[in-house]
Amino acid sequence: MFDVATTLTQLSTDEKVRLLCGKDAWHLHGIERLGIPAITLTDGPHGVRLSESQALDDSALPATVFPVEAAMAASWNPDLLEQVAAAIGEECQSMDVGILLGPGVNGKRTPLGGRNFEYFSEDPFLSGAMASAFVRGIQSRGVGACLKHFAGNEQETRRFLVNAEIDERTLQELYIEPFAKVIRENPPWTMMGAYNAVNGVHACQSADLLQRILRDQLGYDGLVMSDWVAVKDKAASHINGLDLEMPGPGERDAELHAALAEDLLSEAELDQRVTRVLTLIKQVLDTNRTVTVEWPAHHELATQLAVESMVLLKNEAGQLPLKPQQRIAVIGDFARHPRFQGGGSSHMTPHQLSTALGAIEQRAEVIFAEGYTETQVTQEQLDAAVSAATGADRVVLLTGTTDSMESEGFDRADMKLAPDHLMLISAIADANPNVTLVLHTGSAIETRQFEHQIPAMLQAWLSGEGGGEALARVLFGEANPSGKLSETFPVRLEHNPTFETFPGTKATVAYQEGLFTGYRYYDTKALPVQYPFGHGLSYSQFTLGDLTYHADARQVSFSITNQGPAEGAEVVQLYIHDEASTYRRPVHELKAFRKVRLVPGEKRTVALQLDAHAFAYYVPHLNGFAEESGRFELRLGFSSRDIRQTRWVTVESDTDVRILPTLGDTVQDWLSDSRTAPILQTELDRLNFTASHPMYGIALGFPIPQLIQFIPHMGYSENDARDVQRSLEQQWSQIQALA
Ligand code: BGC
Repeated sequence: MFDVATTLTQLSTDEKVRLLCGKDAWHLHGIERLGIPAITLTDGPHGVRLSESQALDDSALPATVFPVEAAMAASWNPDLLEQVAAAIGEECQSMDVGILLGPGVNGKRTPLGGRNFEYFSEDPFLSGAMASAFVRGIQSRGVGACLKHFAGNEQETRRFLVNAEIDERTLQELYIEPFAKVIRENPPWTMMGAYNAVNGVHACQSADLLQRILRDQLGYDGLVMSDWVAVKDKAASHINGLDLEMPGPGERDAELHAALAEDLLSEAELDQRVTRVLTLIKQVLDTNRTVTVEWPAHHELATQLAVESMVLLKNEAGQLPLKPQQRIAVIGDFARHPRFQGGGSSHMTPHQLSTALGAIEQRAEVIFAEGYTETQVTQEQLDAAVSAATGADRVVLLTGTTDSMESEGFDRADMKLAPDHLMLISAIADANPNVTLVLHTGSAIETRQFEHQIPAMLQAWLSGEGGGEALARVLFGEANPSGKLSETFPVRLEHNPTFETFPGTKATVAYQEGLFTGYRYYDTKALPVQYPFGHGLSYSQFTLGDLTYHADARQVSFSITNQGPAEGAEVVQLYIHDEASTYRRPVHELKAFRKVRLVPGEKRTVALQLDAHAFAYYVPHLNGFAEESGRFELRLGFSSRDIRQTRWVTVESDTDVRILPTLGDTVQDWLSDSRTAPILQTELDRLNFTASHPMYGIALGFPIPQLIQFIPHMGYSENDARDVQRSLEQQWSQIQALA
């Protein structure tokens, strides 16, 4: 195999420049004269989408379609996801694909994000943990991941043009952190720069993102490619840290030659970018293997993941599980034509597609009615559906979004189901009270329109090629549901913190909600939600006990017991609440979780390891995450709103995140900081200036110079004012020298 350093010396500048752009949509340039072949990269993320075409048509070769990322995250099972990603890696090898374009770890500011289905979670810890497992799995099979889209790509509206304005702390804690966690734990071979701009500069030419954050702060050493046609200014992109423009063929090589001639890009910088491309090619060639895919096993793995991702939102009056002896009305075209993936670049051709109708028919007597075609319900369809529902023992009604409502390329118009589907749900519920509603959506929807009529509801996501079979297993209790929401279902769209700011103006979207997205917002605000983050029912019941914190090992341990009748898995979630922080924090944040499988009656002790970020938050003036000394509450439970065990712990830290108040800051600033408070308090005591003084409340807002000016007007002398001034100035310089 070739040696990167030697090869570099054999390349002309023309060849080097050519290597910095793809050969076509799905290949890099090889170097024929040196016998280096063109390697292949393709989409991702929930399976291999290999097509010769650049159009998003149905020409992709059949491959296993796994549940979409939102569903993957709802499994809260990184071990299973690692197996899935390893299977995707095997399929890549069998199709000679060296790099899979995924996973995506962008955030979910709003349920309307058109690609939310392709991203994991509203929580950066969960997203990072799942993405990390994905990367570990696929790369274990010698296939590179491509972590995308770096960064600030939280919407589809004007995605090529919009400038995301994000303050540093929000950027770091919510939107960089999933990337950072993966880079720390399982560095991906490649990363993809986003279409949009962040704080005024396009992501693919942003030195701030590509150099300061990605290389300097996160220490990432792999290759960075552009999103497809995301490069605006080719020279600026490569100068500021981009390695590879995609797709090819490049027509702007001359621009790079000009930048070299003007020394805007040095030879050394060019060589560094080329070295990354060559290193990647070598990595792919070195790990290339001949693989025969076990398709039935992969289909079963897709089915298992679909099972583990399904979230039982509600289950009243013993609706579920269904029983084989029941007569079941299955309503909805999705039962025959599954809505199993989303629209856009991830659109695959399944290897073997199971349908809900087929799978339910294998288990019970079924009366089927299609109910709708896409978003429309005709009178005939309505009548047939109502008649099917009438007299059945149970109704399973499948509904959700269609490709026209939810896809890459545009954001959702609202959070509701299509009006005709709402009408159908209502009519079916009138005809039969025993309805289980199955939701095939890639993101949260409003359910308030039918909550009062529907006793059981299952969030089934876009569940991949095994989704039909998985659904039947869950409905009939062959599998115990264990999926938990990876995003909050708010009561209504208007409650979402981005309601007023999304999708922004023509040029800009301001992330004004800051850190307060998803449950970080709803829980801090104590706003009612329809279904909280982390929620999901089981056919069994679990209890938690014995919460202990081992400070030295930074471990939390607890016991969990399955007290119900069925074997099943529960996801134990650890949220951390900071009692008092210098800078405002959400009321609690997810910092660890574990999915635990138990047979009835089984009790087990489990330990969760906290990482270095568990108590920390990002402090911009320190350029990093920092822990503050103080008391923290460990909150252990089954959703962000279902906390079962708590314990206060104390953390000692050497880091002081406070900024010392200056002589220009206010009285209140001085009194709130333990370093300046005693100094000022001594002066105020000397003047006998207490809360009973009529000016006291107003004086709290005075900056120190104004306080000194006012002292003579508050019943004291000019001398008093001078004394206070002298004393504060003197003592402040002493503590400043120490700070
Ligand atoms: C998407 C990427 C995708 C690429 C290649 C872009 O439009 O944003 O996620 O990997 O196309 O299909």
